[in-house]
Amino acid sequence: MIVMSSTPTAPHAAILGIGSYRASIEVPNAEIVDAIDSSDEWIQQRSGIRARRFASPEETIQVMSVGAARKALEHAGVEAVDIDCVIVATVSHLMQTPAIATAIAHELGTDKAPAFDISAACAGFCHGIALASDLVRGGTAGKVLVIGVERLSDITDLTDRGTAFIFADGAGAAVVGASDRPGISPVVWGSDGEQFDLIRQREDWRDVVGSDEHPGSGVMPHLTMQGNPVFRWASFTMAKVANEALAKAGITADDLDVFVPHQANMRIIDAMARSMKLPEHVRIARDIAEQGNTSAASIPLALDAMIASGEARSGDLALLIAFGAGLAYAAQVVVVP
Ligand code: UT7
Repeated sequence: MIVMSSTPTAPHAAILGIGSYRASIEVPNAEIVDAIDSSDEWIQQRSGIRARRFASPEETIQVMSVGAARKALEHAGVEAVDIDCVIVATVSHLMQTPAIATAIAHELGTDKAPAFDISAACAGFCHGIALASDLVRGGTAGKVLVIGVERLSDITDLTDRGTAFIFADGAGAAVVGASDRPGISPVVWGSDGEQFDLIRQREDWRDVVGSDEHPGSGVMPHLTMQGNPVFRWASFTMAKVANEALAKAGITADDLDVFVPHQANMRIIDAMARSMKLPEHVRIARDIAEQGNTSAASIPLALDAMIASGEARSGDLALLIAFGAGLAYAAQVVVVP
C-alpha cells in the first residue's frame, strides 16, 4: 500500500501577540438617550455602559483590522509575510462576498495566505482562536492571524431602545503559533439554534429589495435583539460553559489570573463571576464601560487593554468566553502572551 506523506505537526499552540484598534469617536450615553427615550442612569444600571466608541467613515472594517493586526504582529515579533492563514470574525462586513479577510491579508503583505471570514457573531473571536490552535497543532499552518472586527454602528438602529445603547465598533487581533507548552486549551463550544431569532438581522436582503407583489423596505436591515431572554441565557448557561472550559484545561478557578468574558453587559459579567465563585485575585475585564459591546472584537480589545494597564501579565492564565447571536458560544483558557 502506498502511504501518503503527512504534515509535521506542532505539539502545542499559543497566542504569540495581541493587538487592538479602538474606534476614534467616543459617544457618551448623553448622546444616545434622546432618540430612545432613555437615560444615562438607566443605561449604566442595566448594562454598565458609560460610553461606546463608533468608527468614523474612514475607519472601515479593513482599516481597523489592519491597525489591530499590525500591533499584534509587532507584539508577537512576527512579520506579516510569515503568516500562513488569516481568519476574520465579523458580522458587519457589509459585502456578502468576497470575504474581507483576503483584502486584509493583501494589505498586510502576507504573501497570498489563505484568508476567510467566519460568522459566529460575538463568539467569533473564540471560534477563530480554536480554529487557529488546531491549524497550528495539525501542521496546516505555522502562524495564524485571528481578527475580531465590527462596525456595528452601521447595522444598529439608533432609535431602537433594545440595541442603540449597546453596540459599538472596534477591532482586535491575535497571532497564534507553535509553542513548546500548551498555550490554548481545548475549546468548549456549541450552539442553540432553537434561539436563532433572539439576535438577528431584522430582514434578509430579498425583503429589503422586495418584489412586484411585496415592495421592499429599502432600508438597512438593522440588528434586533430580544435582550432579556439573551440576558437570562447568558447569565445562567455561560457560567457552566466557563467551568467546563476550566475543567478541560485541567485547572480550577483558583489557578486563573484573568477572566475575559465577552463584553455584553456588566451585569452578565458580574453574574458569571458570582456563579463561578471566582476568587478575589482573578482580575476581570470590564472594558464594556467605556467601549460598549463590539461583538467579535470585544475579547481581544478587553484583553489588550488589560495587558496595557498591567492587569494581565505575560504568562498569566486567562479564561476567555464569548456568546451571542445564533445563539453561539465558545470558551478556552489561554496563556497571556
Ligand atoms: O452581545 C451579544 C449578546 N447580547 C447580550 O448578551 C445582551 C443581553 N441583554 C442585555 O444586556 C439586557 O437584556 C439589556 C441591557 C439589553 C436590557 O436590560 P433588561 O434588564 O433585560 O431590561 P428589559 O428589556 O427587561 O426591560 C426592563 C424595563 C422595561 O420596562 P418595564 O416593562 O419594566 O416598565 C423596558 O420597557 O426597561 C424598559 N426599557 C428601557 N428603559 C429605558 C427597555 N429598554 C430601555 C431603554 N431605556 N433603552
